[in-house]
Amino acid sequence: MYCLRNFKFPGLLIFITVCVTSIKWDIKEEYLVYGQDVTLACNVMSCQPNTAKMWIGGPNFNLLCFDGYSTNKNKYEMMFNHSRHEYDLIIRGFNFSDANCHYACSCGLQRYTNKLKLKDSNFIYLPVVVQDFSKQTVDRFQIDLLMKVFPLPTCEFVYEDNAFLVNFNTVIKGPTRSDFELNTVRIQRTIDLKSYKCKRNVSLTCQVRSLKHRLLHQNIDFCKIEDEHHEHSVEYVTKFIISVSGFLILSATIAFLIYKCVKENRRNSESENPTDREFVQMVLSSNEAEATQMLNLPSSEAEATPI
Ligand SMILES: *[C@@H]1O[C@H](CO)[C@@H](O)[C@H](O)[C@H]1NC(C)=O
Ligand SMILES: *[C@@H]1O[C@H](CO)[C@@H](O)[C@H](O)[C@H]1NC(C)=O
Ligand SMILES: *[C@@H]1O[C@H](CO)[C@@H](O)[C@H](O)[C@H]1NC(C)=O
Repeated sequence: MYCLRNFKFPGLLIFITVCVTSIKWDIKEEYLVYGQDVTLACNVMSCQPNTAKMWIGGPNFNLLCFDGYSTNKNKYEMMFNHSRHEYDLIIRGFNFSDANCHYACSCGLQRYTNKLKLKDSNFIYLPVVVQDFSKQTVDRFQIDLLMKVFPLPTCEFVYEDNAFLVNFNTVIKGPTRSDFELNTVRIQRTIDLKSYKCKRNVSLTCQVRSLKHRLLHQNIDFCKIEDEHHEHSVEYVTKFIISVSGFLILSATIAFLIYKCVKENRRNSESENPTDREFVQMVLSSNEAEATQMLNLPSSEAEATPI
């Protein structure tokens, strides 16, 4: 109750007291975001500092906070702002149990009660991956996610400095507790490796109303796989070279040995039997001696002697 005293009408000597009920709570946030904190701000025009202030409500409509004390510190908190004549109730980790039930803020005898309504227009359920079928093979990365979200977002993949808008492959509307229909959406995309660098960041961001939410930020490293391939091929080439050179060395050794063997054999036969040339020379030399004897020719010395 807020009372304006000594309300004067000009020219008339009448004093009246006008009293206005002025206590009310409002949701501070633009949206009720599942899992995040929700603040209910109670605005009271005339609430004396020593007057009892409290918050009542929730699923069982019981006392939540009283003059700054909380009955459940993990869930509720009371905040004061004296300069703005208000005190807030902070509901931690907002979920369906917190919605569609009554909340009341009071200062002394003044009280305001209202229902915290969950509506299609004020609710956000940020995308949550419920199943991840993504897989990476040698030459591609297949993103395949099943997620729950409300309302339907706009999502985009970003990689290689390009943004690709996502088309939802499946949209299933399913009831949850509190009869609120979340969307189950399937997102699929295949990133082919051959056409891009082997190392890159892939991110998936979804915007739900005004809120942007990053679902995926992954550094995909295909270089390792490519290196392995490279290593493998290097290995094969090395093996090939080693085996070929081994074969060549072996053949050369065998050939050398054969050659040496043959040469050795020849040398042996040479020492036993003189070579043809030597034999001819021997024959010639013996013949020369014989012929000299047979023809009775003068010796070389005799020849040299002038007649
Ligand atoms: C109280 O309200 C004033 C005016 O809006 C604001 O500047 C201040 O930050 C608030 N204080 C707290 C503790 O919220
Ligand atoms: C909401 O959260 C409370 C605990 O903070 C839990 O007891 C309750 O079961 C939750 N409700 C739903 C619908 O998940
Ligand atoms: C990927 O993102 C990280 C930061 O998250 C950055 O440090 C890195 O340089 C990025 N890599 C590429 C290839 O863009």
